[in-house]
Amino acid sequence: MKKLKKIEVLRILLNDNIEILRCPVCKNTIKTINENSLVCENNHCFNISKKGYINLLKNNAKTIYDKSLFESRSKIYDEKIYENLSREIIDIVGKYSGNKDINYVLDTGCGEGYYLNQLYLEEKINKKCKLFGIDISREGISFATRHENDILWSVSDLSNLPFKNSKFDIILDILSPSNYREFTRVLNKDGVVIKVVPEEHYLKEIRSEIKENIKKYTYSNKDIINAFKDNLDIAYDKRITYKTTTSNLEDFIKMTPLTSSLSKEQINELIKSNIKTITIDLRVIVGKIKESI
Ligand SMILES: C[S@@+](CC[C@H](N)C(=O)[O-])C[C@H]1O[C@@H](n2cnc3c(N)ncnc32)[C@H](O)[C@@H]1O
Ligand SMILES: [Zn+2]
Repeated sequence: MKKLKKIEVLRILLNDNIEILRCPVCKNTIKTINENSLVCENNHCFNISKKGYINLLKNNAKTIYDKSLFESRSKIYDEKIYENLSREIIDIVGKYSGNKDINYVLDTGCGEGYYLNQLYLEEKINKKCKLFGIDISREGISFATRHENDILWSVSDLSNLPFKNSKFDIILDILSPSNYREFTRVLNKDGVVIKVVPEEHYLKEIRSEIKENIKKYTYSNKDIINAFKDNLDIAYDKRITYKTTTSNLEDFIKMTPLTSSLSKEQINELIKSNIKTITIDLRVIVGKIKESI
């Protein structure tokens, strides 16, 4: 059978999911999916990319997350350094998608798509989950489409999600910003948010080397966790801490937004530094919609 092009797979995915999408500009229903665009009832028009994603942002956002950051992230992920976290996420998604035949899973701020692509490879998840990834960075989403699968990728802002109310069962929010108004709007009443936040020692070796340059050495996630608790009821909470050795310090340094304000010279200095081990210290929290909301 003839292999479908990425844009053809995307058109099928958009048609299959047209009823859950909404226009990010006027919030109305999507009316048609054309050859190269998607059009809402008020004729707002969005481009479908040949690479296999839909751009739902009217103006592309300029962010610190550029192509090289996502390439470095992907190389570090290929070294399986974040596999413990990925396994944890797969287990949690497996647990919360147990009772329904089809679950809608949305990764907000998915970047280069590692966690969704890992979920897709798990047969038990794949069978009963429809996977959606959004990110404000076109470079991230464009890179996320590199594998062949039926994940629906879109360039979108997580503070203005292009989905109708109460459509999702699970939201992933991994080291990305949150918008609980939007998260609780698109989640159904039994839905959950799986959020991953850095803990105090996360990448502490890199932080300590750059502490002279920027004031990011000490880190507290207190405000982030408090905002989570204010909006959701915590159903699960786990800290994952381990040390890893790497021969690829350069990509570790380039994959983190911690170093984004450094000059090329400062980055090169860091790469030459004597860092041998790196601490991964993350917290995974699952929150349910509060009864009163
Ligand atoms: C530290 S990266 C994490 C990416 C990915 N979740 C991972 O763990 O590899 C943060 C991500 O949040 C995205 N982001 C930041 N603000 C956003 C917004 N308003 N809407 C959607 N994505 C956003 C960035 O583009 C970036 O890809
Ligand atoms: Zn519209």
